Amino acid sequence: MHKWIHYFDIYERHFSRFCNSAPVILEIGVFGGGSLAMWKEYFGAGAKVLGLDINPECKQHEGDGVEIFIGSQDDPAVIEDILSRHPRIDIVLDDGSHMMRHMIASFELLYERIHARGVYMVEDTHTCYWDEYGGGLGRQGSFIEYAKGKIDEINAVHARGVLPISSFTRITDCISIYDSIIVFEKRSQGSRQAPVTGPL
Ligand SMILES: C[S@@+](CC[C@H](N)C(=O)[O-])C[C@H]1O[C@@H](n2cnc3c(N)ncnc32)[C@H](O)[C@@H]1O
Repeated sequence: MHKWIHYFDIYERHFSRFCNSAPVILEIGVFGGGSLAMWKEYFGAGAKVLGLDINPECKQHEGDGVEIFIGSQDDPAVIEDILSRHPRIDIVLDDGSHMMRHMIASFELLYERIHARGVYMVEDTHTCYWDEYGGGLGRQGSFIEYAKGKIDEINAVHARGVLPISSFTRITDCISIYDSIIVFEKRSQGSRQAPVTGPL
């Protein structure tokens, strides 16, 4: 397994509510399979851990409650295959190529399709500042810039018509930005009300 130590508090904050509730988690990026084994243990009995990797050798890490898909994270057919076999996914963790175009493509293919109270976490977003990954400070097309656009979208109901209310607006509860991790938590926004209390 290959993780930064400060990620573990972030996992705990966003994932602990799923423990022992038989969640389905998809991790993009399998590598040596260590993180998949960790998730199986962390989420407890009944958890289903799915891995997606472009390297066919990763298939060897399949086992009890762990299913590995081979293909690229930006390939719509691969994502569709996963979703058709697992219509309910509670958590996506993108630890794949960390290339900007791949991170955005996976997000667009998966975010709306995962559970309505699901969590979508993208890690190693420091590559958003690195040229070789398609990143760069303020560079259009970086995942950080993409996420900044999502901050506006989450507030679209207050934008007095200059920003359309999107599906993302309707289904997103919050976006959490950390050093090297961005987390999107889903929850229907419902209708917004701001009642006034106190004497008239
Ligand atoms: C950082 S490693 C994953 C580490 C693993 N999650 C862990 O914590 O041990 C990144 C993995 O992403 C895979 N990868 C690279 N490009 C990919 C792509 N386009 N689609 C899916 N997986 C990809 C690599 O083969 C590699 O195994």
